[in-house]
Amino acid sequence: MNILVTGGAGFIGSHTLIELYSAGHTAVVVDNLSNSSQESLRRVAKIIGIAEIPFYNVDIRDREGLEKVFACHHFDACIHFAGLKAVGESVAKPWEYYDNNISGTLTLLDVMRRNGCKSIIFSSSATVYGDPAEIPISEQCPKGQCSNPYGWTKSMLEQVMTDMQHADTEWNVVLLRYFNPIGAHQSGTIGEDPNGIPNNLMPYITQVAVGKRPELGVFGNDYDTPDGTGVRDYIHVVDLARGHVAALQKVGQGSGLSVYNLGTGHGYSVLDVVKAFERINGVRIPYSIKPRRAGDIATCYSNPEKANRELGWKALYGIDEMCRDSWRWQSQNPDGYATK
Ligand code: NAD
Ligand code: UD1
Repeated sequence: MNILVTGGAGFIGSHTLIELYSAGHTAVVVDNLSNSSQESLRRVAKIIGIAEIPFYNVDIRDREGLEKVFACHHFDACIHFAGLKAVGESVAKPWEYYDNNISGTLTLLDVMRRNGCKSIIFSSSATVYGDPAEIPISEQCPKGQCSNPYGWTKSMLEQVMTDMQHADTEWNVVLLRYFNPIGAHQSGTIGEDPNGIPNNLMPYITQVAVGKRPELGVFGNDYDTPDGTGVRDYIHVVDLARGHVAALQKVGQGSGLSVYNLGTGHGYSVLDVVKAFERINGVRIPYSIKPRRAGDIATCYSNPEKANRELGWKALYGIDEMCRDSWRWQSQNPDGYATK
């Protein structure tokens, strides 16, 4: 299939491109590079062994720009990664988040249907469950109250696509709720490259390991968890990327509306991750305990059985591979894609 990949220059998009090509698909990337660099696409092309990935520097809110892309290519489906994702920033700039994520996706969906492309795989998040009613979290778990505008954009967009699919059953909509993607491609040449101070745990740990930050702050050790620190379902980004290829097969069969958790089903605490990182990489991570971070929950991990059963997909990598591959990327590229 030929796939429109919005946000393809970003962390998850770049890894997904590799898995798409290795499964025999082709892709065209639309990205405004607001949180990425074209260097990732150059490296992806090298890994795949092609001259270049077709790329358009277009904002998904730009209807004319998108129409031009559709005028040049036929797409069988879209994998829609483009969006802003920094939770704290979304609290400070809600309008910008609703505009980028919601207006952008509405424009994209309209341009898609006008051009007869009615299959979409959407990057949603475990954040839509809010403080989850059940652990492990299955797709049956009711959606909850999001604690920030970023989370609401995911929850609202799920609703938009659900309603559109109900109204027009030609649409195939797959909502993928990611848990906590970390890790990097085995080559160590592509990975997560956050701007400024990382918000998320693994990029913070790797920046401590590489000497860019003095120590990790552990946000709370008084949660109701085995060691008091927050428990999450970390998933290797390559496993996550392969989940999209599996979802694409489903779309090809005319899937209608479907929702899947993409996680491993295992929960690791902050200190479990720190210890695993130290053990597998032989690097020490100094840390100190800080107050809880607003909006955080104690425990969040998935029941991934539905994706196992219906997509034939299962996460293959464990926490050791995630820590090893995150470190390979960061140690080989201390300044991310800006590393000379
Ligand atoms: P990322 O920031 O690395 O990638 C997103 C890409 O979208 C970037 O390349 C950015 O430049 C592009 N983009 C943003 N707004 C755009 C716009 N208006 N027009 C065109 N391009 C635009 O993030 P990621 O970690 O790869 O996440 C991909 C998707 O998955 C996002 O939608 C994110 O919300 C979602 N998600 C991520 C996580 C995570 O932990 N990384 C978890 C759950 C869901
Ligand atoms: C974050 C987002 C969530 C998004 C998810 C996907 C927040 C509040 N939530 O979730 O919306 O869907 O990523 O990846 O950002 N931690 C520390 N020190 C740090 C950073 C994190 O102790 O410097 C702890 C956190 O308190 C948490 C765990 O590490 O217990 C994981 O944090 P993080 O990587 O930010 O992910 P989430 O909070 O699960």
